[in-house]
Amino acid sequence: MKRLFVPLLLSVGSLWLVAAGGDGWLTQHWSDPAATKGDPPHGWSQLTQDLHPEACAQCHQAQFGAWQGSRHARAFSPGMVGQFAHMATGDANDCLACHAPLDEQKLANNRERRDALTGLVAHAPLLDASVPPKYSPNRLHKHPLNRSGVSCAVCHVRGWHRFGPPPKGSRMLGQINTGVHGGFIARKEYTKSQFCAKCHQFPQDYAINGKPLENTLTEWRASRFAALGVACQGCHMPGRRHLFRGIHDRKMVRSGLGIALVAEPGGAALTLTSQHIGHAFPTYVTPQVTVEAEALDRKGMVVRGWSWLIGRKVGYADGGWQEQRDSRLMPGEHRSFRALGAPASARVIRFRIRVEPDHFYKGVYRALLADAKGDARILLARALADAGSNDYELMGWKEIHLQ
Ligand code: HEC
Ligand code: HEC
Ligand code: HEC
Ligand code: HEC
Ligand code: HEC
Repeated sequence: MKRLFVPLLLSVGSLWLVAAGGDGWLTQHWSDPAATKGDPPHGWSQLTQDLHPEACAQCHQAQFGAWQGSRHARAFSPGMVGQFAHMATGDANDCLACHAPLDEQKLANNRERRDALTGLVAHAPLLDASVPPKYSPNRLHKHPLNRSGVSCAVCHVRGWHRFGPPPKGSRMLGQINTGVHGGFIARKEYTKSQFCAKCHQFPQDYAINGKPLENTLTEWRASRFAALGVACQGCHMPGRRHLFRGIHDRKMVRSGLGIALVAEPGGAALTLTSQHIGHAFPTYVTPQVTVEAEALDRKGMVVRGWSWLIGRKVGYADGGWQEQRDSRLMPGEHRSFRALGAPASARVIRFRIRVEPDHFYKGVYRALLADAKGDARILLARALADAGSNDYELMGWKEIHLQ
C-alpha cells in the first residue's frame, strides 16, 4: 500500500498544468513555476514587498481572519511534508504545485527539503497568529514562505502585480489604482469555477473508470448549479468571505444535505438528498461517510444492525488502479437507506451518520509509520492524530418508533 500511494499522487502532480488549460490568462497565471518577480518596484515599503499572509493581514484583516481558519492555510501539512523524507526534491516540488505553488515556496535543494521536515516539527504550519497579527518582519522572515501553504499571494500575486476580482458591486476590469502596492488588476476569472480547477480538477488522462480522482469541476458542470451560475466561490466564499469550508466542517456538510426519517412497513428508512452541493458528495476519494441503523427491543437491547458506506473507493490491483466502489451522492440525488427485516421483538429503529474526512489518509499514514524515522515519524504521527480528531457525527442517533 505504502509504495503504491505515492505514485498515485505523483502521477497527478506532474500533469496539473493540463488541467488548467482552456483559458489563456488562467494557464499563464497557474504556470509552474509562477512568474518570477525580480527586484521590487521602486519606493515600495517593506510591508508591501512582503508576501507572507501576515503582511497582507495588516490591510486585509477580514480575508486573513477567514483564510487562516481554512485548510488552504494548512496545506503545507505534516501529512504531506512527512512524506518528503524519502522523496527526490523534484518529486516533493511536484506536490507543492498544489500545496504551495509559488516560485518562492519551492524547495531549492535536498537540504531545504530536509529542513522543511525539521522546521515543521518545531512550528505549526501557520504562525500562531491572532487577528490582526502584529507585523514583525524580522520574526516573519525566519519562516519560509512555503509554510503558509495556499496563501494570499498564491492566488493574488504574480510578478509584482496584485490581481483580484472586480471591486465589489462593480464590473470594472483591468488596472485599478489604490495608492498601495501599485493598485491591482481586476480580472473576471476570479469569480469563475475554472479559477479553482488547477488544483481541484485532475486531467482526464489519469481517469480511473472514466473519472479522475478529483473531478470536481466536471461534476459541477453537470450539476444544476452551473446552469444557475452558482460557482465554487458562491458556496465556498459566500459574500467573498475566504472560508473555503468543506467536508471537514460539520455545519457546511449539513447545509448541503436534506435528511428525512420515516417508518415504513417492516422497518424504517433514512433519506438523504444532496440539495446544495455543487459536485458529488463527497467529491474526493479520501473521505468516507457511514450511515448506520440499529433495531432496539423493549429493553433497549440492539437486536439487529445495518450500515451503508457513501464514498468512492479506489485500490491498486492487477497492475493498475481500479475503482472498487462509487456510492457517492450526485447533485440533486435522493437516496433511501432502508432498515428492513428487523426481528419481531424490535420496537425502535435508530439511525446515525458518521463522517471521516480523512479516511483514506489514515491508512496511508499508518502504513508509512511502520518504518518512518526521526522527523518524518513525528510528522506522520501528528498527521494520523489530526486525521482521527477530524471525525465527527453529522447526525447523532435519532430514533423512530415502529408502527
Ligand atoms: C493537483 C493538485 C495536487 C497535487 C499535485 C498534490 N495534492 Fe495533495 N491534495 C490536493 C487537494 C485538493 C487536497 C484536498 C483534497 C480534498 O479534500 O478535496 C489534497 C490533500 C492532501 C493530503 C491530506 C490533507 C493534508 O494536507 O494533510 C495529503 C497528505 C496530501 N494531499 C499529500 C500530497 C502529496 C504527498 C503530494 C505529492 C506526492 C500531493 N499531495 C500532491 C491537491 C494536490
Ligand atoms: C499597506 C496596506 C496593504 C497591504 C500590506 C496589502 N494590501 Fe492589498 N490592497 C490594499 C488596498 C488599500 C486595496 C484597495 C482597496 C481594497 O480592495 O481593499 C488593496 C487591494 C487588493 C486587492 C484587490 C481587491 C479587489 O477588489 O479585487 C487584492 C487582490 C490585494 N489587495 C491583495 C493583497 C495581497 C495578496 C497582499 C499581501 C501579499 C496585500 N494585498 C497587501 C492595501 C494593502
Ligand atoms: C494552488 C492550489 C489550489 C487552488 C487554486 C485552490 N485550492 Fe482549494 N485546496 C487546495 C489544497 C492543497 C487543499 C487541501 C489542503 C489540505 O488539507 O492540506 C484544498 C482544500 C480546499 C477545500 C477544503 C476541503 C475540505 O477538505 O474540507 C475547499 C472547500 C477548497 N479547497 C475550495 C477551493 C475553491 C472554492 C477554490 C477556488 C476559489 C480553491 N479551493 C482553489 C489547493 C487549492
Ligand atoms: C485559493 C485562492 C485564494 C486565496 C488563497 C486567497 N484568495 Fe482572495 N480571493 C480569491 C477569489 C477567487 C476572490 C473573488 C471571490 C468572488 O468573487 O466571489 C478573492 C477576493 C479577494 C479580495 C476582494 C474582496 C472583496 O470583498 O471585494 C481581496 C482583498 C482578497 N481576496 C485578498 C486576499 C488575502 C489578503 C488573502 C490571504 C489572507 C487571500 N485573498 C487568499 C481567491 C483567493
Ligand atoms: C452549491 C454549493 C456548492 C458548490 C457550487 C460547490 N461546492 Fe464544494 N462543497 C459544498 C458542500 C456543501 C460541501 C461539503 C459536502 C461535501 O464534502 O461534498 C463541499 C465540499 C467540497 C470539498 C471538500 C472535499 C470533498 O471530498 O467533498 C471541496 C474540495 C470542494 N467542495 C470544492 C469545490 C469546488 C472546486 C467547486 C467548484 C468547481 C465547488 N466545490 C462547488 C458546496 C458546494
